[in-house]
Amino acid sequence: MAAKTNWYKEAVVYQVYPLSFKDSNNDGMGDIPGIISKLDYIRDLGATAVWFSPLYASPWKDYGYDISDYRAIHPAFGTMEDFDRLVAECHARGLRVIMDAVFNHTSSRHAWFRAALSDPDSPYRDYYIIRKGRIRKDKKGSEELIPPTNWTSSFTGSAWERILGTDEYYLHLFAPDQPDLNWENPAVREEMADILRFWLDRGVDGFRFDVFNLLSKEYPLRDDRNRLHFQKGTQYFVDGPRMHEFLNELNEKALSLYDTYTVGESYTPDEVHAHRYIHEESGELDTIFDFGHMTSDNVGGMKFIPRPFSLIKFKRGLIDPQLRYHGTGWNTLVLENHDCVRCVSRFGINDKKYRYEAATFLPVITYFGWGTPFIYQGQEIGMTNAKFRSMRDLKDPVSHFVYDTMTEMHIPARAAEKMIMFGARDHARTPMQWDGSANAGFNEGTAPWQCMNPNYRKINVEADLASDKSIYRFYQKVLEIRRSEPALLYGRTIEYYPDDRQVIAYSRDYGGKRFLIVGNFSASRADFIMPGDFELDELSIRLTNLDRTEAETEEIMQLKPYEALLFEENKK
Ligand code: GLC
Repeated sequence: MAAKTNWYKEAVVYQVYPLSFKDSNNDGMGDIPGIISKLDYIRDLGATAVWFSPLYASPWKDYGYDISDYRAIHPAFGTMEDFDRLVAECHARGLRVIMDAVFNHTSSRHAWFRAALSDPDSPYRDYYIIRKGRIRKDKKGSEELIPPTNWTSSFTGSAWERILGTDEYYLHLFAPDQPDLNWENPAVREEMADILRFWLDRGVDGFRFDVFNLLSKEYPLRDDRNRLHFQKGTQYFVDGPRMHEFLNELNEKALSLYDTYTVGESYTPDEVHAHRYIHEESGELDTIFDFGHMTSDNVGGMKFIPRPFSLIKFKRGLIDPQLRYHGTGWNTLVLENHDCVRCVSRFGINDKKYRYEAATFLPVITYFGWGTPFIYQGQEIGMTNAKFRSMRDLKDPVSHFVYDTMTEMHIPARAAEKMIMFGARDHARTPMQWDGSANAGFNEGTAPWQCMNPNYRKINVEADLASDKSIYRFYQKVLEIRRSEPALLYGRTIEYYPDDRQVIAYSRDYGGKRFLIVGNFSASRADFIMPGDFELDELSIRLTNLDRTEAETEEIMQLKPYEALLFEENKK
């Protein structure tokens, strides 16, 4: 049994979406040799761990979040030997390896599911959640078969798919190609623990658990009668009754036997459960992603429904977990991932006018907070949302499911398309922009699986590094300062002016040292008054994104649009 070293607390995680990172064999899809060729780039940024979105065998109905073999590498990415080399090459550079664990569902092409459907007596039937449909009589007395419950899928529509030629349905909280596993079945839990050990034995250092808090459903399954629930059934499948028990079991049988880090991608968890998942005494998970701040420019986290950016909401989402969990667990700090739009193109930011400012402002106000930073590929060079010509350019099935649902609801096509373009996950999935050559150096010219962002000739790694306003180098500075200051790693967060609609400000305090983080999250100038518990003459600027000098620092000062500052206190 390996002792837990808590390495994750000082780690910086870089997320790679393998399909879109680097295509070494010019087949239009990123691959493991491509990733290996860019590991120095990841290390030099200041990352110390890499999270790989699914590399496993999959029919790619949800681009890898539908796994058909948990113990195999997708042939388009490479072989198991390539994977072993990837782990070795990461470790040789001091990079830990974090794999995605998609355990709520399998692919409908997984051998278990195929066996479950083809043979009613198969033991694999009980690996899934299969129920008879219900008969509904209409007023005229004619009968119709309807799904076992009224639950809806996160990807729109009923969460039940009828099994052809039968009166039975299987549950899928995501696409019909992603049948939910039955975690009540001990055999399923054994399989999952075994899969974790399989990868841990190959040298993997941690896991990101996909939508982890949906694993336990409340039985007997029943209709969700709450009219306020947009997605029906959530009260019966989010943070379900056996969630904590299931996590404990995975720990006992696999995770705790190694020096492993875990982060759970949570599906709007309730605060009490969230705290328990990550409480040091519970030992269930090390961290979760809390996406509260990501709902600050959409309606309740529904990414396709825009609302004006609210800094107040952003601050509550970013800062509250830091206040809530400090001292009892650990936190994560996230601005992007493969499921959301680019951070410089959201939160009310005009990415034409303020791309550099915002791309340097956001890491300062986020990553000097308390928690482990996660950086998504391309974020470190300020990649923006793409300009897609039409729905045909979008590869994510969710964009199409939601678009179809909107048009069925008689939302005019143009309006529906606009909403999809606002929130599409496709923005994060255009290939990484390495240089100004054809396909941005992603490959040698074969059309990539997902079209390029047309701005790649201007925005790319090579151009960024050659510029005196390099965003990558700014990230390096942020991460270097963070790494070298225990107060920024471990300090308690104290917030100032929580009700200010332009300014975000907080301090970090640890071991007798204090830092003050200040930012103007708006496109207009903002006044900032130095908080009363800081003395101006004891502060020096440790980092500025818009070249402010100490002579320009006053008790009351005007901050430029998207200006961010890190002050260091030097007590007299
Ligand atoms: C998670 C993944 C997302 C996927 C979904 C279903 O939210 O991040 O990409 O579509 O789970 O697996």
